[in-house]
Amino acid sequence: RQVLVSGVSLAAAIGLPRFAAAQSPQVIKFSHVVAEKTPKGQAAIKFKELAEKKLGGKVQVQVFPSSQLFGDAKELEAVLLGDVQFIAPSLSKFDRYTKKVQLFDLPFLFDDVKAVDSFQASDKGKALLESMKARNLLGLAYWHNGLKQLSTNRDKLLRPEDVKGLKFRIQQSDVLEAQFRAMGANPQKMAFSEVYQALQTGVVDGQENTWSNIYSQKFFEVQKTIAETNHGVIDYMVVTNAKWWDGLPADIRKGLSEAMAEATAHGNKLAGEFNEDDRKKIESAGKARIQKLSKDDVAAWRKAMEPVWKKFEGEIGKDLVDAARKAA
Ligand code: LMR
Repeated sequence: RQVLVSGVSLAAAIGLPRFAAAQSPQVIKFSHVVAEKTPKGQAAIKFKELAEKKLGGKVQVQVFPSSQLFGDAKELEAVLLGDVQFIAPSLSKFDRYTKKVQLFDLPFLFDDVKAVDSFQASDKGKALLESMKARNLLGLAYWHNGLKQLSTNRDKLLRPEDVKGLKFRIQQSDVLEAQFRAMGANPQKMAFSEVYQALQTGVVDGQENTWSNIYSQKFFEVQKTIAETNHGVIDYMVVTNAKWWDGLPADIRKGLSEAMAEATAHGNKLAGEFNEDDRKKIESAGKARIQKLSKDDVAAWRKAMEPVWKKFEGEIGKDLVDAARKAA
């Protein structure tokens, strides 16, 4: 009798699986490569808080920032293997899974994050979230960071000819590789976690990134000049394992979806502020000099990077490029 009143034993006695009675929360891991004080870092923390609140006791979300669990080289594979449930790689890091998302790497495609946002919210933008489903990757949201700036260890960085022959760290992206080659520079694909040291030791001369990443990774301490080129965008897609997601109990999937939508709004609102503040902090630190550009200078960068469009338009799809341009 006594045995039968205990939940677990009762469950066992009537043939329920153990977990139904034990009710320990489902552990869900979220891994990313940036620092906590960044738009992505804050959005991930918000997602954890909201998911745990909405699903009271049913899930525990563990967030691992700064490549602590998985870095660029492993994180996509880890999602597919089920070793982590959520990641949010930059849109430049999906080209092994789809050529379409390469769209976002086309130089000077978007004038500002508002334009990026309006494309992402369009039917074609939303469809890209599902463009890797055949590979078992499902996109749940776009998260913003911001526009990219170009930095080097040289004093002069005003025009494209100033980067000729220099080595640049790039993300895992053939479009970005072509972008630097078009300017006669030497691009090198490298994981985010290795960039600071590569800049510090001179393995590479420069890199491209948002103010937020340049500040939070301290790249500004090991670079001489940062040109305010705004030549491209770093934004993210939060992705999960499609089979895992589809197999979740409906209430958990619903709670996670709601948490994701709210965390997205929160992080996307912060992104502009982070980049603005971090730009100011870099300026007042007095280490790297910020090189402002005239309209003429910007036109020169745009022209130098133009060949990339022709090269990738076919792979990406002209319809998509046109839709993005319209939104921009
Ligand atoms: C980079 O690799 O430079 C960025 O994609 C890092 C990030 O996640 O913002």
